[in-house]
Order: sequence, then C-alpha cells, then structure tokens
Amino acid sequence: MTSFPFDSQACVVTGVAGFVGSHLAERLLALGYKVVGVDNFFSGNLRNMASFSNHPSFTFYERSITESALLLELKERHPDLTCCFHLAAIVSVPHSLEYPEETMAVNYRSTLALLNQSDELGFSRFVFAGSAAEYGNDQRLPLREEYASDSTNHLSPYGYSKYLASKEVASRLHGRALRCFNIYGPRQDPKSPYSGVISRFMDMAMTKKPLTVFGDGQQTRDFIFVSDIVEAYLAASSIEREASNAETGVYNVGSGESCSVLELAEIVRKLTDNHTSRTFLPERSGDIRHSLASIEAFGRATSWSPRVSLREGLRITMDSMTADALFNGF
Ligand code: UD1
Repeated sequence: MTSFPFDSQACVVTGVAGFVGSHLAERLLALGYKVVGVDNFFSGNLRNMASFSNHPSFTFYERSITESALLLELKERHPDLTCCFHLAAIVSVPHSLEYPEETMAVNYRSTLALLNQSDELGFSRFVFAGSAAEYGNDQRLPLREEYASDSTNHLSPYGYSKYLASKEVASRLHGRALRCFNIYGPRQDPKSPYSGVISRFMDMAMTKKPLTVFGDGQQTRDFIFVSDIVEAYLAASSIEREASNAETGVYNVGSGESCSVLELAEIVRKLTDNHTSRTFLPERSGDIRHSLASIEAFGRATSWSPRVSLREGLRITMDSMTADALFNGF
C-alpha cells in the first residue's frame, strides 16, 4: 500500500506538458493520484504527455493560467481537488527580457490569482516552481534561502517575477515554494539556443558535433536530476509548517554540489566513448559565474535528499535521448 505524501488524492499540475510537469504528473499517477493537467503549449508539447495522456486518472485542459477563475472552474468539475502544483510559467530568460510585462503577468500575477483561489477553496497545498534565478548574481555560496531579498539584483524579469511569486506563496500557510537549480534529464528540449547546457551537450555528442563551451568553462552550476526534483515536489506537498525549521515556506532544491562546464564536458566525453571534442566560444553575455544551493533547510523540513548522482543522471539522460533518436528515425 503506497503511503501518500498528502491527504488529497486529486491534484492540479499546471505546465503539465512541460519537461518537469510531465515527469511530476507521471509520478503522481503512478502513486495513485488523480491528476488534472493544464497547459497552453506555449513551451510544453504533447509528446511529453505521451506516456500518460490516456491514463484513466488523468484529465487534460488546454488552458492558460492567465484565465481568471481557472482553479475555481476546475474545482467545480473535479470536487476532489485539494492540491495544486504550479509549474506553468514563461521559462525563457531572453523572452522575459523582451517581454517584461507579459512575464510579470504570467509568472507573478497569475500565480497570485491561482494562490488566492486555492486559499478560497481551502486547498491543503499550493506548491510553486521557483528558481535559482531569484538570487540574481549573488556569489555568497552556497546560496541560502534568506539571501534573496527585495534588494537583490535579479538580472531579468524572469528572476524578479519568480522571486515575487515565491515570496507570496511562502507567506501563505498552505504555500510552499521550491527554488530549483539547474534541472536536467529526459524530455528536456535540446534544440533551442536557450536549452540547458546538459541537453545541448548530449545532443551535440550524439550528432558528433564538438561541445560548445562558452568562456573558459570554469563556471560552475548545481545540476539536479529531474526525478530528484519530482520527489522534492512530493516532499514539499507534505511539509507541515510546524515541522519545519525554516522560517518561511521557501526552499532551495539542488544537488548541493557544484560542477564546472569543463567537468561536465569531460563526463559527456567519457559517456560517448571519448569521441567528443570541445570548442571554446566567447562567454555568453549575462552569464553568472558560479551557482550552488544550500539544501540544508529542505533537508531539515523533509526527509528529502538528492539520490541520483550527476554521472548516473547523465547516463540515464543519454540512454533516453538515444532511444528517442532511434524511435524518431534519425
Ligand atoms: C539557468 C536556467 C535559467 C535561470 C538560471 C538561474 C536553464 C536552461 N536555464 O541558466 O533559466 O535563469 O539558471 O541561475 O536551466 N553553456 C556552455 N555551452 C552551451 C550552453 C551553456 O558552455 O552550449 C554554459 C553557460 O554559459 C553557463 C552554463 O553552461 O555558464 C549553464 O548554462 P545553462 O544550462 O543555460 O543554465 P544557466 O545559465 O545556469
């Protein structure tokens, strides 16, 4: 008998056709929950939902989180809903720089509206996808939750909107915000110029192109495998405020370990039988130098800890991308 991390057996997942949202929905369904998924396909896609779109406990709505009263409407149709995992957002930093107003509307004001509706409906949990971008270029490593503040230089409307939304979510009794660091794993789209470095390196390695290292490659990141993030969402949904040692309901989720881009390139090279070369390109403008999460607060509040090592996560990602490439015939 599976033990459920929260009492409800039905939950909403916004951004369900996205990279992380689809993994979360898959896991919730496997645990026996009913999942009501919402996505407008701005950056998500149908393919990500292929493994569960016909699941009897899954209902999908092609809707935007900017629609007012969305949650109230969903609750009318699904009275057993009592939990919301809110992952839908404008996730591209460059897009947020070009469209700051739209980013604030989608990432901040819509979150606020959903949060208010979940309050009104008496939801037991509202778990929000925050971001390491909430720290701007703060170099006090490892980054602790309290370092992000109103005076942080957030570098982009994306980071600022996530910061404001996390702060609001964390201030509510039923709200939990997870500041996710660099997530990677199967289903991450490698094709956009803004894709994460891991999916890009894997794609380049598989197509026998040199890995593009921006700058000197000594910059570091805290990479976290997608299944660890999914488990963090489940753990966050069951945190009792009283049981938490943290002062607010906002928590970092990362591996707690840093890896340089050059080290990453080396692991990818080994995974591909040393056939992969590297090419050095100019540093990407606006890049931060180092990023590393302090994961103490979340560890204290829950029994969560990262389980998948970078090496293992990269191997799983590579296997999955290879299988996809074979399936798609190229
Ligand atoms: C990530 C997030 C971003 C967020 C930021 C917050 C992703 C995809 N992006 O950006 O939304 O605002 O954290 O801290 O998760 N690199 C290369 N070669 C490449 C691609 C990237 O050397 O081909 C380097 C970049 O210059 C960077 C590092 O790899 O130094 C990581 O890049 P990336 O995966 O895009 O993530 P972040 O820049 O950390």
